[in-house]
Amino acid sequence: MTDLILLPGDGIGPEVLAEVKKVAARLTPDLALDEHPFGGTSFDQLGTPLSDRTLAAARAARAVLMGAVGGPKWASAPRDKRPEAGLLALRAGMGVFANIRPALCFQPLADASTLKREVVEGLDIVIVRELTGGVYFGQPRFIEDLPGGGRRGVDTQVYTTAEIERVARVAFDLARGRRNKVTSCEKSNVMETGLLWREVVTDLHSREFADVTLEHMLADNAAMQLVKNPRQFDIILTDNLFGDVLSDEAAQLTGGLGLLPSAALGEPGGPGLYEPIHGSAPDIAGRGIANPLAAILSFEMALRWSLGRPEAADRLFAAVGAALDSGARTPDIGGALSTADMGAAVLAQL
Ligand code: IPM
Ligand code: MG
Repeated sequence: MTDLILLPGDGIGPEVLAEVKKVAARLTPDLALDEHPFGGTSFDQLGTPLSDRTLAAARAARAVLMGAVGGPKWASAPRDKRPEAGLLALRAGMGVFANIRPALCFQPLADASTLKREVVEGLDIVIVRELTGGVYFGQPRFIEDLPGGGRRGVDTQVYTTAEIERVARVAFDLARGRRNKVTSCEKSNVMETGLLWREVVTDLHSREFADVTLEHMLADNAAMQLVKNPRQFDIILTDNLFGDVLSDEAAQLTGGLGLLPSAALGEPGGPGLYEPIHGSAPDIAGRGIANPLAAILSFEMALRWSLGRPEAADRLFAAVGAALDSGARTPDIGGALSTADMGAAVLAQL
């Protein structure tokens, strides 16, 4: 059985995963790795961003590590063939409904944030984003021509009790191992799905997780609180769309997207999908200056959550912290190291 499938994908994806391969060769040489085409690169080769073969391999592995997908090159590809469509199909096909996005401010990087050091220093929050439902997948969705001229675009936001409950359970479980607090965010003042979300989370909390502190917050207020006083949060639990927005916002608090990993998990025992939360960064792709730390930390999460290697994960996490302590910086965090040199700085600490 393959332990880890690598999907380098597009843009800076292959560059940052190249550093992960070096780390894996040093840290866990016995892991069985395999690599498959994905995203725009796969569309160019095979006419589809996610081939049946790649999906089957992903489902059969213990973990999948994706680099990045998308770029201007595929902007005019048919909508269902765009790299992003491949990513959504991969998430749905793997059934990874709970997206765990930590926003952790590494001590030496507190000044890399656009917020004041005293606001972000020591920040350690986790966004739990529902990943396979909501408006990203709801039907119907279309753009139609109107008889009198003009067009109409429709998306559907939809959630069932079961979908809300299973992701909320992940958030509550995670909180127990941390500071024991969940802030559930929706727009129950405006949206029916928001109202159901709040009811289901409240109900699950009183049935199974009464020991965890639960707070409800409207998603717009959460966006404001994240820049005002981010350390009030431990776990933020939210839906697919709000989670997309709030996780980018939270990432910026920590000094940038180049550092942040994510894990997407489904039912216990199934494979996890790991992705750096930065995108394909077409503006810097091919220049060898992308920060590989988000990808390396995504591998760290895979070791911990899917591959049963917590000691290796601890060692890798410590090595990344030590590399940053030693002053290693790529341009996105105020330095001048290349992607390969940053990878080497982590290897040196291993
Ligand atoms: C993310 C990205 C994706 C999303 C895109 C690339 C489809 O923004 O992982 O946050 O919207 O989920
Ligand atoms: Mg996003």
